[in-house]
Amino acid sequence: MKMLTRLVLGLVILVAAMTAPTPEIINYDSETYDATLDSSYSYENIPIGKAEVERVTVMPSGSRELLTPAPQSEEMQEEDEEEESTPGLVDGSSPQETEFTGVLGPHTNEDFPTCLLCTCISATVYCDDRELDAIPPLPRNTAYFYSRFNRIKKINRNDFASLNDLKRIDLTSNLISEIDEDAFRKLPRLRELVLRDNKIRQLPELPTTLTFIDISNNRLGRKGIKQEAFKDMYDLHHLYLTDNNLGHIPLPLPENLRALHLQNNNILEMHEDTFCNVKNLTYIRKALEDIRLDGNPINLSKTPQAYMCLPRLPIGSLV
Ligand SMILES: *[C@@H]1O[C@H](CO)[C@@H](O)[C@H](O)[C@H]1NC(C)=O
Ligand SMILES: *[C@@H]1O[C@H](CO)[C@@H](O)[C@H](O)[C@H]1NC(C)=O
Repeated sequence: MKMLTRLVLGLVILVAAMTAPTPEIINYDSETYDATLDSSYSYENIPIGKAEVERVTVMPSGSRELLTPAPQSEEMQEEDEEEESTPGLVDGSSPQETEFTGVLGPHTNEDFPTCLLCTCISATVYCDDRELDAIPPLPRNTAYFYSRFNRIKKINRNDFASLNDLKRIDLTSNLISEIDEDAFRKLPRLRELVLRDNKIRQLPELPTTLTFIDISNNRLGRKGIKQEAFKDMYDLHHLYLTDNNLGHIPLPLPENLRALHLQNNNILEMHEDTFCNVKNLTYIRKALEDIRLDGNPINLSKTPQAYMCLPRLPIGSLV
């Protein structure tokens, strides 16, 4: 019964996604979903329209055979070529591959195609608020993955394996307490990682390509971040670690960091060379203009030399 409800829900979402005008779908949260407009992601474009709707609505039952789209006829392929500019749904594989997973994406554990359960638009997979308790298998070309407000507890080493185009992962508001050490390490294009509002105790190894990290409101504590965890991230410009009971500022900070948010932690002190270089007074850390240390037991007045190289004083207790 649960399966059937999901199937119907999935169909409604899929059909709605296909019939609604594309810009409307994408703009429902323009601030975070802007990335989907990246027009360089032109996949094997399957026209949004009659052919697809028929293919999907023709299914009378939840049988797997019927969920797998039939191979395209020559006529349909011609149509595809004519409508190259229409944004297509994610196709989990190219037609050359023998393992044809089709427009609905790979099958989940419950033998259910990911793109019926979630909504796939171009290279973006939206699985927000779908009662998921694990990461669903994702289409090979997924670049942006949103799975916020679910019940995912663990991220496994294979969840994102071989997703070489993946650029953004957003798992805000799940129940994640455990992440396999190499779950993210081998993702060559990962830029943005958002894991805020979970129960993470230990941060795994992260790819150095990251530009934006938000792990706020987790349980990292004193030991959750490894030594020099962010050192080699030359492009990292936002590091948000608020509400984690951290005991110290993670060092060294990468040179291009612009924003460091550490409010509501348990940071008691810092060194004079946390940000600056006390031996070299000509050194300027010009990128770092947004440091938040409010909500920590630290007394910023104790280290007056520590801010000399910064464009702005950190926000926090100066008395
Ligand atoms: C001091 O810092 C400046 C600017 O980063 C650098 O050019 C210079 O080489 C440094 N001097 C020494 C002695 O490290
Ligand atoms: C903070 O440090 C300054 C300088 O050491 C000191 O004068 C001040 O009393 C301290 N404030 C608190 C609340 O401990």
